[in-house]
Amino acid sequence: MTAAPQKSPVDLPADASARVDAASQSSRHPAIVILDFGSQYSELIARRVRETEVFSLVMGYTTSAEELRAIAPKGIVLSGGPSSVYETGAPVCDPAIWELGIPVLGVCYGMQLMVQQLGGSVVAAGRAEYGKAPLHVDDPIDLLTNVEQGSTMWMSHGDSVERLPEGFVRLAHTDNTPEAAIADHGRHLYGVQFHPEVVHSTCGMALIRNFVYHICGCEADWTTAAFIEEAVADVRAQVGDKRVLLALSGGVDSSTLAFLLHKAIGDRLTCMFIDQGFMRKGEPEFLVEFFDQRFHINVEYINARERFIGKLHGVTDPEEKRKLIGTEFIRVFEEESKRLGPFDYLAQGTLYPDVIESAGTNIDPKTGERVAVKIKSHHNVGGLPKDLQFKLVEPLRKLFKDEVRKVGRSLGLPEEIVGRHPFPGPGLAIRILGEVTDEKLDILRDADLIVREEIRDAGLYNAIWQAFAVLLPVRSVGVMGDKRTYAFPVVLRCVSSEDGMTADWSRLPYDLLETISNRIVNEVKGVNRVVLDITSKPPGTIEWE
Ligand code: XMP
Repeated sequence: MTAAPQKSPVDLPADASARVDAASQSSRHPAIVILDFGSQYSELIARRVRETEVFSLVMGYTTSAEELRAIAPKGIVLSGGPSSVYETGAPVCDPAIWELGIPVLGVCYGMQLMVQQLGGSVVAAGRAEYGKAPLHVDDPIDLLTNVEQGSTMWMSHGDSVERLPEGFVRLAHTDNTPEAAIADHGRHLYGVQFHPEVVHSTCGMALIRNFVYHICGCEADWTTAAFIEEAVADVRAQVGDKRVLLALSGGVDSSTLAFLLHKAIGDRLTCMFIDQGFMRKGEPEFLVEFFDQRFHINVEYINARERFIGKLHGVTDPEEKRKLIGTEFIRVFEEESKRLGPFDYLAQGTLYPDVIESAGTNIDPKTGERVAVKIKSHHNVGGLPKDLQFKLVEPLRKLFKDEVRKVGRSLGLPEEIVGRHPFPGPGLAIRILGEVTDEKLDILRDADLIVREEIRDAGLYNAIWQAFAVLLPVRSVGVMGDKRTYAFPVVLRCVSSEDGMTADWSRLPYDLLETISNRIVNEVKGVNRVVLDITSKPPGTIEWE
């Protein structure tokens, strides 16, 4: 995306070795490399390409033509970005990329950069264009095959191409943008001013398919089955006859990892499940029964409830709670791994977005600055310190979350686990505001169960990102029967979201709200009032602490 005047042009330090390392972590080379100019959509482009069953990776825009030659992708996509190409210090790619003979598709900023570097010109548009625009196709060949005349494309730019470089022709325009899609067929260079990757671009996937299959000649070989086969072989080769330890939380990532590793190395996998006492009702029992008894995966159940609740005695500050829980988790993990070990390897559920971010391409689309904002210290099993004396096994590091779910399903994990809502590492402890006590944990567990049951019964579970109860540390007056009550309120928090980064509160039917409220007040001792959180994120966060 290009936006009009930018405060601070992006100029990221290049870390070429980390990038090539990321690309070569893979036993297969990426068919499509996305060079990231700081767009909020770079990851989305990579996901869309993978939806066509073609393997893709995101790399920094400073990746040189030489590095790309070594990786040998079949195509390159230049992402959008928050800068203007004519600003001093705006990010540029290695111009030798145009001479590689590899097809390139520039998206928005990527197209403008292509135009500018090859001798055309880019100017501030008379009128910035944001939102949907009908596309008028002038030449329905290669890139625009099956892209319907008048189909909607998503625009988000303040700059426009004024003059095309030599060799380029127009493929499509919109009412406001004369050069909406362009090509130099001879050099296999293509550009689109719109964003084919966003869901509002109705024929965006057709365009991406045209690029990856017809222009780049990729094959549809990035399938779940192929991934599992490769990952199992890679893990066997890496681990040999050694033992692997996995911290199992019961979430989608660690559960999928457990199944994948069990398939690869069987009994040489040990899953450690630490029950800190902050899980939902029935969850610890369910996990042990499911993994250990039903699927015969070694699970060491560690009951550390007393230790954790003891640490939280008198603690009310949210960050302090999170830190204490995180530190205690690591302590228990270290002690227990010594007791159960020795282990040579530690399995971690690192996913591809973590890898991209740690490569330093995470840029705030609004300011153009690298994002390093810490809003809450997140603790989860993936956050174990690296100085534990283990080598790491991270077979999911090539995958996006939706791909992990597909792998999980394909390995036989039930919907109950694969489709479950996210649950934070510190669990119910950060949904009890103020001091955490056993009494409050019992209250919240009962309320939380009712919320989940009712949301499921209403058929809304899959449509909602998260639905849960929060217990407040205040009391209010109520009346039940003929008796005055003085008890806690429960907050109902239900949100829809794509990725947890932003969220909107869910508009639940009134009847459902009524049922949830009635059941909680009647069935959960200690609660006499239910309130609804109608705050989006931002400005709120999804969790209350
Ligand atoms: P917030 O509250 O920051 O949450 O809007 C965004 C998403 O992250 C989840 N969350 C966590 N997940 N460990 C996790 O694994 C944590 O410490 C943690 N804190 C929040 C939250 O449930 C939501 O899905």
